[in-house]
Amino acid sequence: MADINFEKMNIQWFPGHMTKAQRMIEDSIKLVDAVCEILDARIPNSSRNPDIDRLAAGKPRLIILNRVDLADPEITAQWKKHFESQGIKILETDAKTGKGVNGFVPALRELLSDKIAEYAAKGQASRPLRVMILGIPNVGKSTFINKVAKRKAAVAGDKPGVTRGKQWISIDRGLDLLDTPGILWPKFDSQEVGEMLAITNAIKADVLDKETLGANFMLRLREMYPDALTQRYKFVPDSDMNGYELLEEAAKKRGFLVSRGEYDIERMANTLLGEYHDGKLGRISLEKPE
Ligand code: G4P
Repeated sequence: MADINFEKMNIQWFPGHMTKAQRMIEDSIKLVDAVCEILDARIPNSSRNPDIDRLAAGKPRLIILNRVDLADPEITAQWKKHFESQGIKILETDAKTGKGVNGFVPALRELLSDKIAEYAAKGQASRPLRVMILGIPNVGKSTFINKVAKRKAAVAGDKPGVTRGKQWISIDRGLDLLDTPGILWPKFDSQEVGEMLAITNAIKADVLDKETLGANFMLRLREMYPDALTQRYKFVPDSDMNGYELLEEAAKKRGFLVSRGEYDIERMANTLLGEYHDGKLGRISLEKPE
């Protein structure tokens, strides 16, 4: 696969953020009864904080696999099994429509049943449970919290570069969520992780790099979901073609002609990434558990 020049990408995250994020998690973790990570179900590996196992050691854990509407259901089931085998509880959600969100409070109550009993024994039955919510930007944290709170508690939407402080959000039914917006952690020492985050829109690639990103994405699709390419772009991906040639083939089928015999690969890369984002290629996951 071609190398992506991440220097050229409009990346708003850098190692300083990583350190800041770790410190914020370390400081806050003492305040909570449980840690809830929201992951993108299509890339549970790349959307995880790489140090979370160390940072959250000893705390009850819940992982929310969000965007299940866009993920491959079979692979989501594999991830569920994978995390559960590590003693982590899993909830699958589509925060946009709210599907699965109702399971959140019951899942927490089950996870924290010992804590609830302990509070009750101390005569503190009304003491709210405190849960830290973690997730990379754009994973759906605000949307999820708003659905849980059944009101507009957190601001959802595109807000690149905006780093707000942490805040407590009180939910009915004795639950306080610690929202940690602006916690940004991905490490870009791996091209793989950077690429996964760019393909799923967690970070923005600039126009120049979108071509390479689109070409590499084509190769992944040919390997994992060749039928999706055939159905959407009406060609059978040839195993000898490189990513740019696959983009060109799709551009031909779409009629993205720039001059005689020359097709607009950049436009095709944008189209491909946009259509993946909108779920038009079908339910496609990019990472499987090891
Ligand atoms: P954040 O707080 O973690 O930064 O994310 P936020 O809630 O702002 O969500 C980012 C975008 O992702 C929002 O769309 C939101 O509607 C969408 N989203 C959240 N959860 C899900 C889900 O489970 N499935 C799907 N399909 N989408 C989800 P947006 O602001 O309109 O942007 P766009 O990404 O849709 O263009």
